[in-house]
Amino acid sequence: MLRVALTKGRIEKSAVEMIRKCGYDLSDYDSKNRRLIVTAGNLELVLAKAADVITYIERGVCDVGIVGRDTILESEGEFYELLDLGFGKCRFALAGIKGKNFYNGYTHKVVATKYPNVAKRYFMTKGIDAEIVKIEGSVELAPLLGMADAIVDIVETGATLVENGLEVYEDISYISARCIANVASMKLKNSEITEFVSKLRTQLED
Ligand code: PRP
Repeated sequence: MLRVALTKGRIEKSAVEMIRKCGYDLSDYDSKNRRLIVTAGNLELVLAKAADVITYIERGVCDVGIVGRDTILESEGEFYELLDLGFGKCRFALAGIKGKNFYNGYTHKVVATKYPNVAKRYFMTKGIDAEIVKIEGSVELAPLLGMADAIVDIVETGATLVENGLEVYEDISYISARCIANVASMKLKNSEITEFVSKLRTQLED
C-alpha cells in the first residue's frame, strides 16, 4: 500500500484524472462525499491542504504527495521532488497598482503576500530591503487599501489582477503541480513509488 497525499481544491481534479488514466480504480474516490481517505487499487489517497501535504510527507505518514511548486518553494522541509506533473500551471509574480513604478524613490517598501519565504528570498537576491507582511488570502486587497506597495502572489489567468486595477511588475518563478516523496519511503517502498511515478510519467508523454 502506497499512501498518497493529494492537495484538495484547485489541482485536485487534474490529479485525480491523471491517476484515473493511469488505470487506478477511483470508484471509492467518486463516492467519497466528505471522507478524507479513500483507496484506489494499491493506493491510499489522503486529501489534505497544500501546506499539510508537505507536513505529512516530511513526517513520513504519507509516502508520496501531489502539491503545487508554490507550496514547495514556501516550505523549508526535506523531501524528494520526483516529477513535474504539467498541470496547475501558473507563476509567482510581483504585482501592484497599474502604472505605478515599484522601484521609484527611496521610500520603505511594504510587500503583502501569502508566501513570505518566497517574497523574502526574492528581495534578498535583488538586494532590496522590503518589509514583508503575511496575508491569508485575497492579497490583492493590500495595495488597493494602501497597505502595501506591491504583492507577491500567484498569477494564473491574470483576471484577478486586471479586475482590481493591478498589473504584473515582474515574473518571479514558474509553478506547476509536482510529485514529491518522503526520504525514507524512497528507500523502503522504492519499487511501489517507482511504479506509481512511471505510470504518472506515461501520462505526460501522451
Ligand atoms: C489565487 C491568487 C490570486 C488568484 C489568481 O487565489 O492568490 O488571487 O488565484 O488567479 P487568476 O490569475 O486566474 O485570476 P485563490 O483563488 O487561491 O484564493 P485566495 O486569494 O483567497 O487564496
